[in-house]
Amino acid sequence: MNLRSLSHSMIACALALFCVGCKDAPGRPEAPSTRPDQVLSFAVLYKDNCAACHGENGKNGAAISLANPVYLAIAGVHNIQQITAKGVPGTLMPAFAKSKGGMLTDQQIAVLAQGIESQWGSANALGGQAAPAYASASAGDPAQGQKAFSTFCASCHGVDGTGLIRGKLHTGSLVDPAYLALISDQGLRSLIIAGQPQDDMPDWRSDIAGAGSRAMTDQEITDTVAWLASHRIATPGQPYTHP
Ligand code: HEC
Ligand code: HEC
Repeated sequence: MNLRSLSHSMIACALALFCVGCKDAPGRPEAPSTRPDQVLSFAVLYKDNCAACHGENGKNGAAISLANPVYLAIAGVHNIQQITAKGVPGTLMPAFAKSKGGMLTDQQIAVLAQGIESQWGSANALGGQAAPAYASASAGDPAQGQKAFSTFCASCHGVDGTGLIRGKLHTGSLVDPAYLALISDQGLRSLIIAGQPQDDMPDWRSDIAGAGSRAMTDQEITDTVAWLASHRIATPGQPYTHP
């Protein structure tokens, strides 16, 4: 499953799962349970708040895998904590901090961020290799990005990013405005840096035959994101202009 299949029914399902943790959810037995804001078990917090989108064990969900040691080594606890607190505006990633309208205390968010790193991270994930920065420091050049895409991505996603290779659909389209409307530029960058192990998509080192045969530079990653992002339109899903 991927982000494209995160349809409205999926959102409804995620919301329903959230409510399993709600105190007054119908059908919940009256038990001398811990108050929701006192739960400090990583496993419970993750299952109740994150698993619906990021997958039960941190992978195979509709949203980016968190159980990816390469991702964790590059993002780090601080970014994970910040994003969990504030969410990613314009995407389905909610803000969880109470101060941002969410349901979790700062302490619970710290337990989540540290638990994700300690449970799924690995000290050796990068094998001592210099890694690109988590966030881009410069603006990308879409024209250069198109070149980088054809070197590092086209063998699986098609030269034009539609997923079509010799008339056969290999992956979903990365240039469909409806897809791009659901993912931020950082979301694209994170996927390119960390890869998607469950789909055999390599990380930025691109160590597979037919895809560059060398690691991507930080600038190539930035440019590739700029090229993908250049396919965004202002009002996705509304191709018709109304008089
Ligand atoms: C309703 C779906 C949904 C839920 C629930 C959800 N996420 Fe997310 N999350 C997303 C999506 C979609 C993105 C990608 C946003 C983007 O495009 O940048 C994301 C992104 C993230 C990122 C940033 C990835 C990056 O690019 O660095 C982190 C960290 C994260 N989520 C952690 C969590 C944690 C922890 C929880 C539970 C407390 C959680 N998420 C719950 C959908 C969700
Ligand atoms: C070896 C094959 C392979 C290579 C090389 C590869 N990918 Fe992927 N990628 C996949 C597969 C398979 C998927 C998951 C299937 C799908 O999304 O349709 C995927 C998923 C993605 C996604 C997530 C789509 C979603 O559902 O959210 C993005 C973004 C992406 N790739 C971008 C890139 C970019 C950019 C490059 C080049 C830097 C690249 N990929 C290189 C195979 C590859």
